[in-house]
Amino acid sequence: MQLYLAPLQGLTDWIFRESYSQHIGQFDKTFTPFVRVQGGEFYRPSQCKDLLPEHNTFQKPVPQFLGNDAESFKRFEELCVEHGYPEANINMGCPYPMVTGKRMGAGLLAQPTEVATLLEGVFADTKLKISVKCRLGMESTEEFKELIPVFNSFPLEEIIIHPRVGKQQYKGEADVEAFARYAKQLKHPVCYNGDILTVADVERIRELAPQVDRIMIGRGILRNPFLLAELRQQELTIKDKVNMLRGFHTAIIEHCKQKYSGDLHFLKRLEEMWEYHAEAFENGHKIYKLVKKSKTLDQYEAVIFKAINELG
Ligand SMILES: Cc1cc2nc3c(=O)[nH]c(=O)nc-3n(C[C@H](O)[C@H](O)[C@H](O)COP(=O)(O)O)c2cc1C
Repeated sequence: MQLYLAPLQGLTDWIFRESYSQHIGQFDKTFTPFVRVQGGEFYRPSQCKDLLPEHNTFQKPVPQFLGNDAESFKRFEELCVEHGYPEANINMGCPYPMVTGKRMGAGLLAQPTEVATLLEGVFADTKLKISVKCRLGMESTEEFKELIPVFNSFPLEEIIIHPRVGKQQYKGEADVEAFARYAKQLKHPVCYNGDILTVADVERIRELAPQVDRIMIGRGILRNPFLLAELRQQELTIKDKVNMLRGFHTAIIEHCKQKYSGDLHFLKRLEEMWEYHAEAFENGHKIYKLVKKSKTLDQYEAVIFKAINELG
């Protein structure tokens, strides 16, 4: 079973990936959050920094492209090649109206001919391996029926599917039965993504779709950083876990010091992570409240290292 770390904008950036790989574990693959490219230009040039080799010393991620035209992909490919990446992933899953309204992300899925045009343009000229990360549609999982022949006509490396539709954003249920039905009809390797929180969740996907041997995990790893070890049947003692968490958080803080000037930005970013990560602790609700209340790095460190020490 291959285990992948999901791209989560603002959460699984290089700061998280480096700290996690160094102190907790290595996924089989990791992905950068999307780099949006429009009309051949980087929409937020700062997003490109996530690909810098000096930010990815433990493991090279697969860079992710968000856009809908071949010219923009070409610009993105130049960036990937400049930094020595052999593979890129195309985002066809982002559900935010500001993205889907521009027919990007999940907004592309309701338009199979536009998906085909984008992939034709990409494959006409690319030297990279190309994978896609998508949902089952924008409005309805029925849309995926028309996408299957499109995806099957290109030499994709793999297809990662999060079986919600765009309009659900992150609400409601992921349709795992529809995922299993469609996965069988795709000729490429398929990776499952969505709401994996426990070993039992992976077993359920394996039962429904036995040929699927790749699982991507996002929020579940923030909630339980040891899920990777649990899925690999690696035994960890409480002492191991405390040491890993100490190292991980120390590294996150050190990297944040490099990236952010001033405690406030810094603390805002960490607060977003703790919205999920607090669940790794028994009294997580209380810890999250204290993290949110922290006004300085010193206060933040006092709260989180006390919480980690109390685990042991
Ligand atoms: C805050 C947030 C940011 C995300 N950013 C991205 C992104 O940049 N690219 C992408 O393909 N998916 C992104 N996603 C979707 C996740 O990669 C993943 O598909 C989704 O969270 C379901 O998996 P999970 O339940 O394991 O988290 C994001 C999701 C969240 C909640």
